[in-house]
Amino acid sequence: MSCLTVLGIETSCDETAAAVVRLEGGRAEVLSSVVASQVAAHAPYGGVVPEIAARSHVEAIDGTIRAALRQAGLGVQALDGIAATAGPGLVGGVMVGLSAGKAMALALGRPLIAVNHLEGHAVSARLADDVPYPFLLLLVSGGHCQLLVVEGVGACRRLGTTIDDAAGEAFDKIAASLGLPYPGGPALERLAEGGEPARFTLPRMLLGRKDCDFSFSGLKTAAARLAEGVRNEAERRDLAAAVQAAIADQLAERSARAMDLYAAGRPAAQLRFVVAGGVAANAAIRTRLKAETDRRAFSFFAPPLAYCTDNAAMIALAGAERLALGLTDPLDAPARPRWPLDAEAALAQPIHKAGRKGAKA
Ligand code: KG4
Ligand code: ZN
Repeated sequence: MSCLTVLGIETSCDETAAAVVRLEGGRAEVLSSVVASQVAAHAPYGGVVPEIAARSHVEAIDGTIRAALRQAGLGVQALDGIAATAGPGLVGGVMVGLSAGKAMALALGRPLIAVNHLEGHAVSARLADDVPYPFLLLLVSGGHCQLLVVEGVGACRRLGTTIDDAAGEAFDKIAASLGLPYPGGPALERLAEGGEPARFTLPRMLLGRKDCDFSFSGLKTAAARLAEGVRNEAERRDLAAAVQAAIADQLAERSARAMDLYAAGRPAAQLRFVVAGGVAANAAIRTRLKAETDRRAFSFFAPPLAYCTDNAAMIALAGAERLALGLTDPLDAPARPRWPLDAEAALAQPIHKAGRKGAKA
């Protein structure tokens, strides 16, 4: 089939999202993308409460799917497949979206595509730009911080991951210690504006190491300690700027190392770098990464903000690309709270202990 129209459903964290994407000749067109955010429901608790998330998904899922179809101007019969996030994420939420997707696939007699949320982020830059495979991806979100070589759907190789917190998690936790509301990343970025990062010295974790892994726990502890001693608004702003610069430095240094590994033996035409995930919304981080790509003759891509944070258009596109390759899933496909995109790397270098339910992402 040369033209595929796929519904995507995303419920792995705190956004209930549905979207319709058309894939034609390898190019994506987003016909609709609806995101019902639960931020207000979680904000009083300073973070995502899994039970509240699952209940909110149940309440919002039908209306969100209906809105996505209405905005696309399509009836369900126009769909060639149903893609739903099957993990990794909060299992109560994943089950809501995946069950809705299965029910639609069964009722319509269309294939189900069980999409890895990380693969959604991996293809997200292709929603708005012509970004051919392969490319190097820095995926930085609230739950993940990874460097991946993306050859296509079902073909991602992990070069590095965080050994403790994700970058967004670091933003959120440090923001909380500065008294900022959840989600902390955007609030910390606003506070950092005009701040003087040099006033505070923060640890630059893992710099100079030969791998492409990340660590943010030392930074988090140091920033929390400094936050206790902050005496006025100017100092608070300077500390926010210092934190943002420290995170940007680590992301840039690790990405630069990955670029050198990726570039070895590749033609210049394949030197593409993509940053995706919620933290890619940060302007200072984008600027810092862009400078590294310029230095190495990589072209730089970052999805529009709406496709950086969680959305269903990226799930629909990953689903459509999988469907085009015949990669569909049975209706008993399980919800997978832990689901590494590159299972081999996760097993060979079990940064997170595998635990009872298998390796994390
Ligand atoms: O991709 P995303 O929406 O959800 C996950 O899959 O985790 O990412 C959310 C994360 C949060 O930690 C949030 O604080 C962070 O992205 N974030 C930012 C910015 N906007 C969102 N971090 C730094 N600067 C921003 N402007
Ligand atoms: Zn995400």
